[in-house]
Amino acid sequence: TTIPKYVTDLVIPPVMPKARHSERHGIDTYVIGVRQFSQQVLPPTLPSTTVWGYGSLGDSSTFNYPSFTIEAKTDRPVRVTWVNDLVDSQGRFLPHLLAVDPTLHWANPPGGTSGRDSRPTFTSTPGPYTGPVPIVTHLHGGHSTEESDGYTEAWYLPRANNIPAGFATVGSFYDEFREKFADGHGLKWDPGTATFQYANDQRASTLWFHDHTLGLTRLNVYAGPAGFYLLRGGDGDLPKGALPGPAPAFGDRPGTRYHEIPLAIQDRSFNSDGSLFYPTSREFFDGFAGPYIPTTDVPPIWNPEFFANTMVVNGRTWPKLEVEPRRYRLRFLNGCNARFLILKIADSPTVRPARSAVPFWQIGNEGGFLPAPVRLERLLLANAERADVIVDFTGIPEGTELYLINEGSDEPFGRGEPGVAFPVADPATTGQVMKFVVGPLASKDTSVPPDRLRLPMIRPLGSSSVTRRLSLNEANSTNPLVPPGTPVQNLLGTVDSAGNPVLLEWDDPVTENPRLNATETWELYNFTVDAHPIHIHEVAFEVVNRQPFTGSPTPPESWERGFKDTVIAYPGEITRVKARFDHPGRFVWHCHIVEHEDNEMMRPLQIGGRRT
Ligand code: C2O
Ligand code: CU
Repeated sequence: TTIPKYVTDLVIPPVMPKARHSERHGIDTYVIGVRQFSQQVLPPTLPSTTVWGYGSLGDSSTFNYPSFTIEAKTDRPVRVTWVNDLVDSQGRFLPHLLAVDPTLHWANPPGGTSGRDSRPTFTSTPGPYTGPVPIVTHLHGGHSTEESDGYTEAWYLPRANNIPAGFATVGSFYDEFREKFADGHGLKWDPGTATFQYANDQRASTLWFHDHTLGLTRLNVYAGPAGFYLLRGGDGDLPKGALPGPAPAFGDRPGTRYHEIPLAIQDRSFNSDGSLFYPTSREFFDGFAGPYIPTTDVPPIWNPEFFANTMVVNGRTWPKLEVEPRRYRLRFLNGCNARFLILKIADSPTVRPARSAVPFWQIGNEGGFLPAPVRLERLLLANAERADVIVDFTGIPEGTELYLINEGSDEPFGRGEPGVAFPVADPATTGQVMKFVVGPLASKDTSVPPDRLRLPMIRPLGSSSVTRRLSLNEANSTNPLVPPGTPVQNLLGTVDSAGNPVLLEWDDPVTENPRLNATETWELYNFTVDAHPIHIHEVAFEVVNRQPFTGSPTPPESWERGFKDTVIAYPGEITRVKARFDHPGRFVWHCHIVEHEDNEMMRPLQIGGRRT
């Protein structure tokens, strides 16, 4: 079976409803659960898919994949009680939708309550874990305090009536953060929940939230829980009306036309019964859109990258959107597990190389607005990167069909150019994303044309006092169950004085320990053959430059100016970023290819001393 394309309308996620009484104390409060439900991700002629998603606990109609959008205002705090509601109607826990690999360094509830979530030791290959699912939500891009950052070891199980005896129900940092938050705010956390507060003391920007559980992020996010968090207002934003709008708001009438639209692009694969496919071993997969052949894997389950064969936008495969001949503000998110995207708007879905029919005017990235709009024929987005973009359909005749296509490579080699050994995205499947059909103009466009837009002022960080040399490495697997000599494990680390990498695992003592309020330059030495999108929590950083190991530095790309939270580190290069670390506590930095993140390509970040 092939999946028909462009039959389903794009879903524009509505706004997440606030909890009742949320106006008290000048704080917006939410109670948001993660649940399991069925959704028509594939076209309606095909089976529906069991997914997970966030929703407002009081209203089951708000549960969706991806999540409804949280609308936040600068300097107005948002407080969310995140509920692990992965239970059935009898209150029993639901097992994972996908095969959990218990041999990774992971949350490991069966490991019990003692201390750190250290990697289990096995003498033989165990089967997948079928117990209750730990979750913890991270606001990606949030200038969060440690207890609200969704630390990867602050996970928690659902409150269920059949949790096996001896299981840890929370991760090793959960209780400490609960006490800190409760003391600070006079609240308590119910079992199976965590309450986080976001100050929103940062520039207006496109943030997103997703699961961050140790060793499970790739699976939990693939199952669905992710959503946009749009922060507006303050002197880092533009006056209302300057940009195309509106975006969805609470209480909109059905049929409201939106000209600001977030687009979460994700690749997914499906079994013929509609269920999500994610590889459980080195095996052939013959799904809807052709064979999926994992290139490498490490037994028993983990695969170093997963490139799925279907493109999903806002929870629907290959959707279509009728647009007016006017300007749109599109907020792109690469929400794929491993796939880099190179997006273009073309008049043919399949012709390669594609000619750009309508340019992108990029106005913002992860850290808010750029210094000035940048006209681009293609948009390169690594995993977790966002692009705030104006697309101008003005003057395009009614009936014109345009295609958002992906010219990305399946392997994150080089600067998005096709890898030597790997094909570019298949023009018939992952090379296509969605379709725009130009309809009639419904109302006059009063937004400012992008070439005349003046974007808000940016305050640069100033000079840094510390330079750290850090490394991105590929090495033989350290998993004790993996045959000796199996390659393809990625690890972070430092660089010694001779310029050689020092490889470190998650459990090794903290090495990235900036002093509180220090401004530091991090030099990311990529010793691997792949590009890795590196994300640092707590901060928005400046990209300083990139320098080949033997060569001279080049400045950041035009769309990397301002502030970012995720940066592509290319093979054989030093990528320099600069950040001010201004919240004390425990955070993380990691590769956002989530299969890498889940298997040791993540390290603790300890700001302002204390923990080691
Ligand atoms: Cu989007 Cu640390 O994650
Ligand atoms: Cu990586």
